[in-house]
Amino acid sequence: MKLLVTGGAGFIGANFVFYMLKTHPEDEIVCLDALTYAGNLETLEPVMDDPRFRFVKGDVADRETVFRLFAEEKFDVVVNFAAESHVDRSIEDPGIFLRTNILGTQVLMDAAREYGITRFHQVGTDEVYGDLPLDRPDLFFTEDMPVTASSPYSASKASADLLVMAYHRTYGLPVTISRCSNNYGPYQFPEKLIPLMIANALADKPLPVYGTGENVRDWLYVEDHCRAIDLILRDGSVGEVYNIGGHNEKSNLQVVKTILKQVGKPESLITFVGDRKGHDLRYAIDPTKIHEALGWLPETKFDDGIRQTIDWYLQHESWWKNIMSGDYQEYYDKMYGNR
Ligand code: NAD
Ligand code: TYD
Repeated sequence: MKLLVTGGAGFIGANFVFYMLKTHPEDEIVCLDALTYAGNLETLEPVMDDPRFRFVKGDVADRETVFRLFAEEKFDVVVNFAAESHVDRSIEDPGIFLRTNILGTQVLMDAAREYGITRFHQVGTDEVYGDLPLDRPDLFFTEDMPVTASSPYSASKASADLLVMAYHRTYGLPVTISRCSNNYGPYQFPEKLIPLMIANALADKPLPVYGTGENVRDWLYVEDHCRAIDLILRDGSVGEVYNIGGHNEKSNLQVVKTILKQVGKPESLITFVGDRKGHDLRYAIDPTKIHEALGWLPETKFDDGIRQTIDWYLQHESWWKNIMSGDYQEYYDKMYGNR
């Protein structure tokens, strides 16, 4: 199988490239990535010399680049990870989210229609279901819930999902969509909760918790997400949406305290800061469909996954310290300076 993996220099995309090359020696992968602030070629270093892998720098919303690549490579499958992915950035500057996440998806699907593929897989998010109340632990996101959105990021991802389903219905494009809960693991950009808190704790810097810290996320180890996408590509049904999540709900405060405990730093580093605008209260996935249809279950327990993740950040200081110099400082000061 020859796959186009877009956004493969980012967090989940890179983990997916590693997972697929390890699990399917017969597969070939071309990664198309624009190398935005979130894309890092250093991450892909371990596979750059693999003859089954090719990296192409390019923008998914650039029609000429995308069509040329499709003409050259004759892909069987497209897995679209490429996105602007950070909610806080979308609140500051929504425009780029619409361009990459919506128009980029359209351009990829147009090329997929023109050149023919057996599957277009859209990597979606549970944030397209809006949020759940904190006092209703009996409620979960299911695939048949209406799509809604709280942030420009989730609105852009919801729009892309709608467009993907429209291309399936109108043009018969063989699509699948997965909607996953919050991921954590190696190579996550330190703007997101878990790596940010690990980095700050290690540097004895304040840990900025938004609002009361009671907001709940459903955390999944990144490799479990990659395995679920692989299963959907091979055995999933065209036209279907699959939720991915492992019933691992934690409040932000719980996550932050776990990190502090594991790195041996005091809880006094926790600093409550102004809340995120429109902050979603609780995300919680019901993964029954993917479990029953494809036999998927998460394999990594949170206690193990968070330990492995912290160990990885401890062993790869240069990876994230490089990122956290330069532009990142400007971002950090803007986002957290007078919160
Ligand atoms: P990320 O921000 O770490 O990586 C995104 C990658 O896309 C980067 O390599 C970046 O350079 C690339 N990219 C951005 N704009 C591009 C463009 N115009 N053309 C080509 N490449 C471009 O994101 P992530 O956390 O790895 O998320 C990957 C996908 O998974 C996204 O679609 C996101 O919505 C979805 N998702 C993420 C999570 C999560 O917890 N991180 C959960 C569910 C779904
Ligand atoms: P994040 O990692 O940005 O993922 P998402 O918003 O897509 O769920 O944030 C996870 C949770 O952590 C979310 O409720 C916001 C909160 N948060 C903080 O409290 N402080 C921070 O510095 C960040 C980045 C996030």
